[in-house]
Order: sequence, then structure tokens, then C-alpha cells
Amino acid sequence: MKNLADYIEANKDKYLQELFAFLRIPSVSANPSYNEDVYEAADFLKNQLESSGADNVEICPTDGFPIVFGEKIIDPSLPTVLVYGHYDVQPAEPFELWTTPPFEPVIRKTEIHPNGAIFARGACDDKGQMFMHIKAFEAMISTQTLPCNVKFLLEGEEEVGSINLGPFVEANRERLKADVVLISDTGMISNDVPSITMGLRGLSYLEVEVTGPNRDLHSGLYGGAVANPINVLCEMIASLKDEQGKINIPGFYNSVEELSDDERKLIQEIPFNLEEYKNALALTDVAGEEGYHTLERAATRPTLDVNGIWGGYTGDGAKTVIPSKAFAKISMRLVPHQTPDEITQLFKDHFESIAPSGVTVAVHPHHGGFPAVTPIDSKAYHAASKAIEMTYGKKPLPVRSGGSIPIVAMFEEKLNIKTVLLGFGLDSDAIHSPNEHYGIFNFYQGIKTIPYFFQYFSE
Ligand code: BES
Ligand code: MN
Ligand code: MN
Repeated sequence: MKNLADYIEANKDKYLQELFAFLRIPSVSANPSYNEDVYEAADFLKNQLESSGADNVEICPTDGFPIVFGEKIIDPSLPTVLVYGHYDVQPAEPFELWTTPPFEPVIRKTEIHPNGAIFARGACDDKGQMFMHIKAFEAMISTQTLPCNVKFLLEGEEEVGSINLGPFVEANRERLKADVVLISDTGMISNDVPSITMGLRGLSYLEVEVTGPNRDLHSGLYGGAVANPINVLCEMIASLKDEQGKINIPGFYNSVEELSDDERKLIQEIPFNLEEYKNALALTDVAGEEGYHTLERAATRPTLDVNGIWGGYTGDGAKTVIPSKAFAKISMRLVPHQTPDEITQLFKDHFESIAPSGVTVAVHPHHGGFPAVTPIDSKAYHAASKAIEMTYGKKPLPVRSGGSIPIVAMFEEKLNIKTVLLGFGLDSDAIHSPNEHYGIFNFYQGIKTIPYFFQYFSE
């Protein structure tokens, strides 16, 4: 691996400059005004894959944003790694909370990243992490050290639910044939405590709409005599959890498994300091389901959260009004055995059933996703573990994460391939938030670790 390490070292600056160019493309999938930019990001990746040495590179159209595919088959009898990543990013709003503009990447030092971090939307989720794979591939091709076959599947709709990926995968089963899916779109405990994510939560996301009177009303003339949809919505939402933090939807916990003693033990081994956790978020206290540790609450238990709520008058000054309508976006994180369809249906039935007279309630489901558990006794997991041990000098801990990557379950269902989540981000990297960043250390560690994974997996 000497030549490879030298190659990576010699190209460090080039890698960073190229990543910066990628980050300057505002590929926000959720907002139609960035459509052109999302296509440009796909184009950028096509060029990158081609110049790195991939074959059959193609921008594959879908009903939404395209999927970029590329591959290097050095010998069909060798194993094949399918690398997945997403080139779309979350909206950057609110812009005013960014210290520097989200699509003008800069390097700044932070307490956690004393060697500097790249600040930009997508720096960590997922452009920076996806780009590590392209650069590791480039390095392996250039030094003739690629030990097995590799395929790239890069999508532009992950942050909006990956709705077109399933049909694409089904239509391209042969082309996507592989022995393992490798994804860098998760995190580690810290740069001193490496870990491998082995579980992800699922997601059920919906919007609710409460309708009262057929028009906004003067709150003096009608206040007290008709139901106020915002008041009603708040009461309905408040009733969804009890004092112990349990979710009050009949049947919600039916398929939820309690953690085994072994699993609880694994979680207890994870270094965690509650004071530091609170300080980092400027919180006076944590909150959650009674009887569970913060790490359990945040990764192994299901949740229900309001992600947005609106209605009535929110402009400057005062307007005395009873609104006709109130809305909320609500998401539930799911744990193994809960399915998005089942939970969405349970929510819908329950929410409609608790609507008081005087209003009507509509529930509109959005996208969902299955939870996933990845094996920690597989050849691929061991290869990832050894690779990390090589570059971090410590054996990584297997941990479950609270985030969701619905395509992990989808790959298993449709292609029968298991995933390894080889993520290098940190929870403090502010993904989806203002001032998202990615440690330069983490970026280069990823590029160095990935070739070891390939090597160990091929042995
Ligand atoms: N990369 C994240 C998920 C993630 C981050 C998992 C860190 C574990 C650790 C992904 O891009 C994401 O944001 N997923 C969404 C779900 C998706 C269906 C919109 C999420 O978790 O909210
Ligand atoms: Mn992501
Ligand atoms: Mn994301």
C-alpha cells in the first residue's frame, strides 16, 4: 500500500479543490428553483468517474433526478463492491444563520476539528463522504491496486425520499449485481472512538391539516364560540405522548422489541458524557422516554416529533383572527419490525379518531422508509472493522444510529445484498443544520480507509 499512500498524500490538495468545486453546486433536491444545479452535480460526477478511470459511466434518467452509474470490472470472478452515495443536499435555509455562505466552501478550525473543517451544505451529508470513494477509487486505479470490482450508484433524491431509486434498482438488477453495498453517509462516535453504524431507524412522515370555519374569522366576533383549528391541533398533538414519553397511538409499540441485555451492554460501552452532551446543545436538561438512556432514546427507540407547524397570522404586529386552518408536519422514527405503512396507518386512524367535533382532520402521508440492521459477523463487516483499525489504530465499536437511510432495507429486499455503513462524519458536524461541516481529517481518513476495506474484503 506504499504507492497508494504516497499517491493519496501527493494529491491531497487536488482532492480538496475538487471537493470544493462539487460543494459549490447547490444541488438542493427539495426546491425546484435548484433543478438545474442538481443536474449539474450529476454531470460533475460523471466527469469525475470518467477521469478517475471508471467504465460505462452513464447519467441514467429517472422520473426525478438522474442516477449516476459507473463501474470497473477487473475480473468477473472477483468480488464486487457497490458504492452508494447521494449528491443531493438539504435546503440551506435559514441562510442568515450561516457564518459563511452555504455554497461557498471555506475551511475553519473548530474545537472538535483542530486541523480544520470544510464548511458548506453537503460537506458531510453526503458530498464530502461520497467524494472520498471516488478519490479512493482514483488512487487505487492510478496505482494499480484495485483488488476487486467496483460499481458506483450515485443518486440525487435521497433527501426527498429516494422515490425513483426502487424502480431503477428493479429494472437494473443484473447491472447492480454485487457482493456488498458500501455506504459512507453516517458517522462515528468521535475521532478518538471510531465506530461502525450497524442499525438505522426507519421513518414515517406525514402532514396533518385541521379545518375549522370556512374562512378566517374576527376573533372578537367569533372567539369562544367556534373551535380554533390551531388550538385544536395543539391539543391533539399534545395528546400523542403521555407523561412517561410513551407514544399514545394504539398498536404503536406492538412490534417493537426490547433491547437484549447484550445490546444494552454494547451501548453502555460507548463513551458518553451527559454534561458535555447538554453543553454542546446549550440544553439545561435532556428529555425522552422514561427508563431509557439518552443513547437508547436517540437510536433504538421509536419517536414522534413535530417538524413544522403553521397557521393563522405570523407576520409583524398583531392580527386578531381565528384561522380557518392549521397544519403540522409530523415524523415518526421507526425501529426494527415497525413498517412505515403500518405505522402511518395507525397514526392516521388514531389522529382522525381524536378529532373533536367542530373541525375536520385530514392526514396526508409523505415518504417513508424501513429501519435497517446490518450484520456485524459478516466478511464485509470484518473487512470494514480491520480497515478502520488500520487507520485509526483502534477497533471500531458497532453502534446503532437514529438516522434513516431507507435504501439500505431496499437494497436487501430488491437485490438481496447487505450493506456496510462506513461513515466518517460526527454528530457535531451539523448535517441538515446551518454551518454544516466536515473535518479535513475525516475526509482524508476516509480516503485512506476505503482502499483497506477493498483489500481486506477481497482477501
Ligand atoms: N445521511 C443521512 C442519514 C444519517 C445521518 C444516518 C447520520 C445516520 C447518521 C441521510 O441523508 C438523511 O438525512 N436521511 C433522512 C431520511 C430521508 C428519507 C430524508 C433522515 O434521517 O432524516
Ligand atoms: Mn445522507
Ligand atoms: Mn441527509
